[in-house]
Amino acid sequence: MADALAEVEQVLQQGEAELAAVRGPEDLEQWRIKYLGSKGRVNDLMELLRKAPPEQKKVLGKPANAAKGKLTAAFGARQQEIQQAGAAEGEAIDVTEPGLQPEIGNRHILMKVIDELVELFGRMGFSVATGPEVEDDFHNFVALNIPESHPARDPLDNFYLQKPATEPTGSPGSRTLNPEPSLLLRTQTSTVQIRVMETQKPPIRVVVPGRVYRPDTVDATHLFMFHQLEALVVDKNVTMVDLKSTIMQFVRAYFGPETKVRFRPSFFPFTEPSAEVDVWFEDLSRWIELGGCGMVHPNVLKACKIDPEEYSGWAFGFGIERIAMRKYAINDIRHFVENDVRFLRQF
Ligand code: DAH
Repeated sequence: MADALAEVEQVLQQGEAELAAVRGPEDLEQWRIKYLGSKGRVNDLMELLRKAPPEQKKVLGKPANAAKGKLTAAFGARQQEIQQAGAAEGEAIDVTEPGLQPEIGNRHILMKVIDELVELFGRMGFSVATGPEVEDDFHNFVALNIPESHPARDPLDNFYLQKPATEPTGSPGSRTLNPEPSLLLRTQTSTVQIRVMETQKPPIRVVVPGRVYRPDTVDATHLFMFHQLEALVVDKNVTMVDLKSTIMQFVRAYFGPETKVRFRPSFFPFTEPSAEVDVWFEDLSRWIELGGCGMVHPNVLKACKIDPEEYSGWAFGFGIERIAMRKYAINDIRHFVENDVRFLRQF
């Protein structure tokens, strides 16, 4: 009898002690099988009780059932604790864990080409200049020796902006539009030749990468917004030889020493003489025009208060998309603006 009571006490104490030592769900399950399982120690006690003679049953019944109740309740409580600890662990943030690599895009191919061109001309001693994309009539035309009657001023060939003739005085209805607007989206980066010569004295040696706008019909080699690289050199004794040799040097350095290039006589109001530069596109099997060039017209120098008797200069303006197409074998200018990641990712 005393043995049976001691047994009950021992099962209860050992069970509680072992339950307190349980650390995770697996230990807990082992504990459950050992104590509460069908062949477990609590069932052994019940068996002991069942087999006990009636007078012992009275004494043993209460502590044995109490031990069963306590261990069952303790198991439930411990199970909940362990579940909560597990959930909290799942939510915990390990601040030392390496982060997820964000997916970073790449620079647009045109921006890379601009960097390459600026770097290449930088090595030839050119610095970089920029100017506004919304220009006035003076910088886009007048100072570039483009007279009033020149077809380049045709409204159909330009994006003119209408500006208010008077400053707005309050109600929007009081704004009247200027019948002769003189602001436009620049059609050429040659405008920046003027802006540079207005503020710098020779010797001048600059390149100007920038956006230009023309209401052209879009096709495989034309866009209504594209980029030009303008170059301007003004110094004493500058000649056509400097112009031609610099362009040849650029073309061979950028496209490769075998590149075929040709100069064709042309006309631009702001250069005299003028030429156009074509490069042979191997993959298209045809000449494609890069842009124009020439010796800066004396009237342009005069408009910028530079004495054409003392100084001379040369300039060019090339399409950057065309340069990029030739360099990277891109067969359609529209790819640059379509934002198709399959195209953009290639560069
Ligand atoms: N501005 C001309 C155009 O957009 C290109 C050009 C021709 C630029 C001759 C020049 C130049 O600097 O000298 O068609």
